[in-house]
Amino acid sequence: MYNVLIFCDPGIDDSLSIMYALLNPEIQVVGIVSSYGNVDQQQATQNIAYLLQLANRQDVPIIAGARSPFSGEIAVYYPEIHGEEGLGPIQPPDTVQREVLNFDEIFKIIKKYENNLIVVDVGRSTSLATAFILGGDEQMSKISAFYIMGGAFLVPGNVTPLAEANFHGDAIASNLVLNKAKNVYIFPLNVTNYAIIKPETINVISSATYNEFSPLIKPIFDFYNEAYKKLVPGIEGSPLHDVLPLFALTHPDQVRYVNRKATVSINMDATKGLSEADFRPLVPQEPPEEVDHLANWFNYQAFVQDFIETMTTRVNRLHYKYSSPFV
Ligand code: RIB
Ligand code: CA
Repeated sequence: MYNVLIFCDPGIDDSLSIMYALLNPEIQVVGIVSSYGNVDQQQATQNIAYLLQLANRQDVPIIAGARSPFSGEIAVYYPEIHGEEGLGPIQPPDTVQREVLNFDEIFKIIKKYENNLIVVDVGRSTSLATAFILGGDEQMSKISAFYIMGGAFLVPGNVTPLAEANFHGDAIASNLVLNKAKNVYIFPLNVTNYAIIKPETINVISSATYNEFSPLIKPIFDFYNEAYKKLVPGIEGSPLHDVLPLFALTHPDQVRYVNRKATVSINMDATKGLSEADFRPLVPQEPPEEVDHLANWFNYQAFVQDFIETMTTRVNRLHYKYSSPFV
């Protein structure tokens, strides 16, 4: 069982990754940090609260993350891809009320799960970089590994010709995280662009009410899929960028990596957010702990199969841990 602290900006693929994590028997979600990105931070928080309410998982702490990037730039949101409120056509009810914890809850979680905690960051890097700044290297070294969706190595970006959205959204923070974090697994567009789920697969997943998320999956996917059809003419489905790191965590034998030290361009010019690494065929000179693991292949069939199995989980997994032993 992996103890996972998720940093995210839901967002449709973020929301599907939260559902996937909550439904996956190999993952224990120990907290969710909500940050700006696809939507603003307050909306991201509302969406997380809604998903946790659907799952009856009010025990999972929501932690308030960043509202804007280090550079002082105004955050850019993506309603055309994720919807005005981040869940496509779904509007989370205003009645969802949840306590949102202060940022230092992150350090309590790190202490509680010392050396047995995985951070999965599928949003802008600002909150995770802030944790390094506030917590310092010693506290952050108690995190076992970092699974990060971001970057595009030697392939086109998605928000600029060179840069991917998460690393472009706060390039300073992304570069800081890659500089400081040890045991980093990066999932760039090189692989996540191929983590495509097709409408037929979603129809299978939403053909019955398998769990509390089932009714939500098709409407949010369809919205996202319409956006992707315009972004990538001829695409057969939509890439679930933010699900791939969780699949990789739970299926280490189905993913391959190339080991290189990665950096992110912090120049405030056309290269902003560009992810870089030296891919020349030489033995990396950096000490092993400085080298990042850049995903460059995954087993697509296994990914789709696992996604179907997880999202159609029928067992009352969402509740079983908290049902009273006395009834
Ligand atoms: O570039 C893909 C990333 O940007 C994903 O995390 C997606 O949610 C968007 O924010
Ligand atoms: Ca995201």
